Amino acid sequence: MANVAIIGAQWGDEGKGKVVDWLASRADIVVRFQGGHNAGHTLVVGNQTYKLSLLPSGVVRGKLGIIGNGVVLDPEALLSEISRVRGQGLDVGPHNLRIAENVPLILPLHPAIDKAREEARGEAKIGTTGRGIGPAYEDKVARRAIRLCDLAEPETLSAKLDELLLHHNTLLKGLGAATFEKQALLDGLVALAPKLLPYAEAVWERLDGARHANKRVLFEGAQAVMLDVDHGTYPFVTSSNTVAGNAAAGSGIGPHGIGTVLGIAKAYTTRVGSGPFPTELFDDVGKRLGERGREFGTVTGRPRRCGWFDACLVRQAVKVGGVQGLALTKLDVLDGLTELKICTGYDIDGEVVKRLPAALGAQAKAKPIYEVLEGWSQSTMGARSWAELPATAIKYVKRIEELVEAPVTLLSTSPERDDTILVSDPFAG
Ligand code: IMP
Repeated sequence: MANVAIIGAQWGDEGKGKVVDWLASRADIVVRFQGGHNAGHTLVVGNQTYKLSLLPSGVVRGKLGIIGNGVVLDPEALLSEISRVRGQGLDVGPHNLRIAENVPLILPLHPAIDKAREEARGEAKIGTTGRGIGPAYEDKVARRAIRLCDLAEPETLSAKLDELLLHHNTLLKGLGAATFEKQALLDGLVALAPKLLPYAEAVWERLDGARHANKRVLFEGAQAVMLDVDHGTYPFVTSSNTVAGNAAAGSGIGPHGIGTVLGIAKAYTTRVGSGPFPTELFDDVGKRLGERGREFGTVTGRPRRCGWFDACLVRQAVKVGGVQGLALTKLDVLDGLTELKICTGYDIDGEVVKRLPAALGAQAKAKPIYEVLEGWSQSTMGARSWAELPATAIKYVKRIEELVEAPVTLLSTSPERDDTILVSDPFAG
């Protein structure tokens, strides 16, 4: 089975939408395995622009979409996304979207807690998307989550809500926020049941069937390795494992089913939200990257912080994420810069370190060590072959390959789907 998993290799927003769309067009099934509606992909197909948060990108290409158990699902967000894309002419329903029956649900109290806690953190806020992602994952591991399958059992729902509210209302009261009434939540969930249950199934069985039928499965990661709850810049991370290994646990296949792991990285670096960012630029170059790259969050609209390519960080993501090939995006944003810098390591108290340390204090001290490369004045926008790239741009890409210790298998040179230089086919295994 030639499957592919695609994950972000920086702090998210690497331009996954375009690459995922291209891969989805070659797959039979597209699976989301973690995250929730904190993610955002923009897909441009013909004259339509689709903004997807929860729906696997494959639905745009008429493929079967699966939402795995590793996702946290906000029912209202899902239903409104389905109705929005239906309004754009897409056919989405239980025939082409299946949802793991054991997926935990995001309830209205989760975003309320998320926002109240962020407010209480003040200056130390994480900069979450405010969608309730963290609190929903907390409930999952605390074994009190309401899952999709519970919608079929009102008695189970009622007992679970008692436990949930005991915990959350205590917390909300302490934070000075409004509390929730059980009956209103219960009524809301009972009303959602007939709309959501037709999508529910044991998706592990379907994936097992797909394996036997030699179907091509694409596992579509959200966020990125540096936002992984274990391997990222904790606590300034999301609340799920974003590494490709989680595609197995988050969808119910064995580790051998994941296939080739493709990492996606921008030719520079961006981040939204708070947290360490050693190569962040506060000068005109940073501003230029933000403007040329149109660096605003898809979900929250927040301007993204911008900086030089951090090869030390991406190398780390390649190692912990099991990345076998890199898709490099937005090379054209660097056009016209006379010199480019790549971070090859950090100076921490006079010592050269080749990884971002785990401790917050050490991270704050990490000063990037730069290698300076010559830029290019020509446009690389829309290039579809190496021959169309200036020699200095090729040198930049080749140096990235060496430093991150992974081959660049795909290079994207504009938002257009066909403006891509393909080096090797990830589905070829
Ligand atoms: P949460 O996932 O809403 O809890 O937010 C935690 C951190 O992850 C914040 O810094 C968010 O900005 C960041 N984050 C969550 N989803 C995305 C994404 O899709 N792209 C980039 N950053 C994200």
